[in-house]
Amino acid sequence: NRELRQGQFIGSLDCGTTSTRFIIFDKRAKIIAEHQTEFEQILPHAGWHEHDPEALVDAMTECINKAIEKLEWMGWSRKSIKGIGITNQRETTVCWSRSTGKPLCNAIVWDDSRTLGVVREYEKKLAEEGLDIDDEEEDLKGVPEDVEIGTGGEDAAFGEKGDVVVETEDGGESKVQGEKDGLVEKVGEKLENLGLAQKKEETKKPQANGNANVHGHKKRKGKEGIVDVTGIPLSTYFSAIKLRWMLDHQRQVHEAHENDDLMFGTVDTWLVYALTGREQGGLHIMDVTNASRTLLISLKTLQWHPPLLRFFGIRPSVLPKIVSSSEIYGTIHESIGTPLTSVPIAGIVGDQQAALVGNKCLRKGEAKCTYGTGAFVLFNTGEECVRSNYGLISTVAFQAGPDAKPVYALEGSIAVAGSAIKWLRDQMNLIEESSDMDILAGSVADTGGVYFVTAFSGLLAPYWDREASGTIIGLTSYTTSAHIARATLEAVCYQTRAVLDVIEKESETKLETLKVDGGVTNSDLAMQLQANIGGFNVARPAMRESTALGSALLAANALKLFGWDLSKPETLADVNTAGVHVFESELEEKERKKAIRGWERAVSRAGKW
Ligand code: G3P
Repeated sequence: NRELRQGQFIGSLDCGTTSTRFIIFDKRAKIIAEHQTEFEQILPHAGWHEHDPEALVDAMTECINKAIEKLEWMGWSRKSIKGIGITNQRETTVCWSRSTGKPLCNAIVWDDSRTLGVVREYEKKLAEEGLDIDDEEEDLKGVPEDVEIGTGGEDAAFGEKGDVVVETEDGGESKVQGEKDGLVEKVGEKLENLGLAQKKEETKKPQANGNANVHGHKKRKGKEGIVDVTGIPLSTYFSAIKLRWMLDHQRQVHEAHENDDLMFGTVDTWLVYALTGREQGGLHIMDVTNASRTLLISLKTLQWHPPLLRFFGIRPSVLPKIVSSSEIYGTIHESIGTPLTSVPIAGIVGDQQAALVGNKCLRKGEAKCTYGTGAFVLFNTGEECVRSNYGLISTVAFQAGPDAKPVYALEGSIAVAGSAIKWLRDQMNLIEESSDMDILAGSVADTGGVYFVTAFSGLLAPYWDREASGTIIGLTSYTTSAHIARATLEAVCYQTRAVLDVIEKESETKLETLKVDGGVTNSDLAMQLQANIGGFNVARPAMRESTALGSALLAANALKLFGWDLSKPETLADVNTAGVHVFESELEEKERKKAIRGWERAVSRAGKW
C-alpha cells in the first residue's frame, strides 16, 4: 500500500517476428522498465512460417502487464504512462471475422515463401492483361463492392473445411548472377524482370505511351506497372500475395470475403483491433508505413489503389483505414485486461521504419541497419519518393501526423540474420544460447574458406533470387562447427555490404559510418566482422532498443510530450545520448575485396538446382 510516485513516461510495444516486448521510456529514452517474451514459431512445411494471432495478443498483454508490475515495484504509478506507441513485424498478414472478432486462420509471416505459385500467376496476369492505372483515380470511389474476385493461382484449391492444400512447386525462372562483373551490373536483367529497374530506353519514354483501354485508363503491361505505383515488386514477401493465398486456400477466409465478414490487417492492425476492444467494435486501422508493404497502396496518394484491388480481386470492405504514424487513434479498452485502460495509442509504425526514427535518421541521406530476425537497411530520401535502379525498394519511412508530409526511404531487405543464429541453435544444436555464438565463432581466426549463403527462402535485396536456397560451400575435412558459426555471422555482413554498395551507387556518396541496432548487434564479433567486410565504421549505441524508441518518439510527438517534435530534430538532442561504440575495419582493402569475391561466387552457386 505504499504511495506510488507520479512520473511522465511513454510505453512502446514492439511485436517482432520471434518475440514481443513492452518498454517504458523516460524523456531521455532511458529504459525504466521492460518485459519481453517469445511466442511460438509455427513451421508446418518447408518454406512455411505462421503465427497464431491469439498468441500475438497473449504475448502483448503479458508484456504490458509484467512491465507495469516492474514499474510499480520500482515505486512508479501506472498512471505515469501517458501513451503508447506500437511497432511491428511488417507484411505478416492476419485475417479475422468482423462478426466474431476471431482469427480465421494463422497469420502468414513475412518470410514465408509458400506463395511462389501466386506470384508467378500474377506475374503472368500482369504480362497478359496489364494493370489499369488511372493516375486521376486517387481513392476508392468507383470501386464496386462486388469487384470481381481473383482466381488466385492455377493450383488454387480448398481442402476440407479448415484444411489447407500444400502447393507443389517446380518450373520457374533462372537466376542471373554471373561471376565476372560487379554485382550491380550482374543483377540488372533480373531487376528489370522483377520491375525493380527500368530498362534504359524505357526511362526515356513519356508515361502517356501507355495504351488507353475502353475505360480511358492507361493500361500498363509488364511488371514496372506495379513498382511504379507501389515501390515494391510482386514477391512472396508482401501482404497482398499472402492475402490472395488465404482467399484461395482457406475456405473460411474465402467465405468471409464473399459474405462481407472479412477483416484484413498487418500485425499493427490486429493488435490495435484487440487493444481497442474487439467485442466493442475495435478500431480497424493500418499505419501508412505498414500499408506501404501491402502491394495495395499508391506511394503517391498513400491510399488503397483501386487498380491494384481490381488486379488482386480484393474487396475494399476488408481493408482498414490508413492512418499516419503519429496521432491519437484511440485508447486501450478495459476488455483486453491490462492496467493501461484508457491510455491513448498515439504512434504506429513498421519496425524497420521505427528503427530509422529511433536512430534519429530523420534527415535525408541518413541510414541505419537493424539486425533482427532479418536485417534491414533503410536510407532516408526525405520528402522525395526515389526509385532504385539496382534492387532497393521504395517505402514510406514515416508520416509524423495526419497533416504532415510523408518521408520516404530506400530499403534493402535481407531475409535472414538472427534467424540463422536461431537455426544453428534450435535446428542444428550447434550452440545452446545465441550468446554462445561469439565464443564458438571467435574460437577460429577465419572461416577456413567456408561461405554460408543463408538463403532459407530465396535471397531478397539486392539479389532478388527467389529460387536461391541455403548453401554452405568450401567445406573440407578441416572444417569445424566454429567455421560454420563464423560463416553464419559473415553471411549477413556480406549481404549488408552488398545493399550498401547499391545505396552508395544510387546516392553517389560514400558511407563512412553505419548506425546499427537489433539483437545481433549484441555480438561484438558480428559487428567487427561487419566493419571488416563493409570497409566502413559501425556505430552501435549503448541503448539498442531503437525500434521500440522509434514508436515511442512517434507517440510522444502526437501527445506533445517531452517537447519531442519530429519536424525539429534538434528537440531530440538529449534523447539516447549514452555512449556509442564504433567498430573500425581491421582488414586490408585487398583482403576485403578477395573475401567479397568469394562471397559472390558462393551466391552464384546458391541458385536454383
Ligand atoms: O519486413 C520484416 C521485418 O519487419 C521483420 O523485422 O525485426 O522481426 O526481423 P524483425
